[in-house]
This record gives sequence, C-alpha cells and structure tokens, in this order.
Amino acid sequence: MRLYIDSADVKQIALLNEYFPIAGVTTNPSILVKENRPYLEVLREIREIIGEEKELFVQAIGDTAEEIVEEAKFINNELPGNVIVKIPVTDEGLKAIKRLTEENIPTLATTIYTAFQALMAAMAGAKYVAPYVNRIDNLTGNAVNVVAEIAKLYKTYQFETEILAASFKNVQQVHAVCLVGAHTVTVGPDLIEKFIAFPATPADVTEFKNQWQKAYGLDKTNL
Ligand code: E4P
Repeated sequence: MRLYIDSADVKQIALLNEYFPIAGVTTNPSILVKENRPYLEVLREIREIIGEEKELFVQAIGDTAEEIVEEAKFINNELPGNVIVKIPVTDEGLKAIKRLTEENIPTLATTIYTAFQALMAAMAGAKYVAPYVNRIDNLTGNAVNVVAEIAKLYKTYQFETEILAASFKNVQQVHAVCLVGAHTVTVGPDLIEKFIAFPATPADVTEFKNQWQKAYGLDKTNL
C-alpha cells in the first residue's frame, strides 16, 4: 500500500511529507488551477519538496491521442524526476496510453468509473488506474464494488497495473477500498490529517505521562 497526496498546495505538501509516509503527489487540472499561478512553477516546487524519486502525477488535457502524447513528452521534459502522466480513459486517451507504453513512458488512466474501463487501460499498458471513488458513489453508491472488481480482474489476469484509488470525501471510503484490494490511494490533505486522529490516543498518552511524572518527577525516560 502506498499513500499519495492529492493536492498542489506546496505548504500542505511540505507539512504532510514531513509527518506521513508519502509516496508522491497527484494533481489534476482542477487542483492546479486552484493555485492561481503558473502550473510549471507549482509543479517544480512540489518536485523540490518531495525529491526526484517520489512520483509526481500530472494530467494531460489534449483531445486527440497525438496531442496527449505530445503533452506527455512535454511534461516529462519540463519536470525532473519520476513523472507519471495522467490520461483520461476516452478512446483517444486509450490510444495515447498504448503509444506511450510502447515508448516506455509510464501513464495513469484516470476518470475511471467502471471495471471494464480499468481492464482496457491495463490491457493498453497503463501503470496505474484511478477509479473515482466519491464520484462513483455519488452516481451509484457502488464504488467499493467497482474497486473490488478491478482488483479481482487484475489478479485473475495477472496484470501489473496498480489501482490508485482517487476522489475521496471521507476516511471510511479510503478504508473500504484498501480492504478490497486498492494497491495505492491518493487523498486530499484534510482527509490525510484525519487518518490518525482518534481522541482515545492522546488521552492515553496524557495518562501515561501523568503517571510517570508522579512516580519519577520526569517528563521523559532519558535523564
Ligand atoms: C486524482 O488526482 C483525481 O483527479 C482526484 O482525486 C479527483 O477528486 P475529486 O472527485 O474530489 O475532484
């Protein structure tokens, strides 16, 4: 299991990267435009924070396979390090994924709503697929089943393509897709912060500390 930050907010990325076991950062056009400044500048700053080994995902927006392939090459040339191009699973997107796979350029097939879209993307050579969990739930309430079916298909046919589940609105959705075989997840900063927030934990820590202080008059175990 790997965890990615779904954001382009450099301050939040820097903070989360310090505290959480982060494998990289995913962006999409809506996420980047929110920053309201040149997108390459934002992406380069994210790269500086996470280093060159962690994956940075950037989405192509062209309509035709030719445009998407061109964008993928542009993005890879402009950004150092481990870059994965996100490509929507339209027919032109699938064609672009096939071409880029032939050229050893890794891709993520995005905007996935059905297990069959994910199957086609894997057959075309995508390294990752991103089922849109909350958006599927909003349409059918069926996102966990979709992820489970993708996991089953990939296992049955031994695809190396990994599920990078995306679009979450609560921790329960993340938990549920992890249980049914999502290999990785990408989650917004606000939700990642909630992953380890449980009131009993700080309460226990305070109780331990109070007992220790009372017995030894010390705040720590080392003198
Ligand atoms: C990944 O980067 C996806 O584009 C993203 O998780 C979609 O999330 P949303 O449904 O909250 O826009």
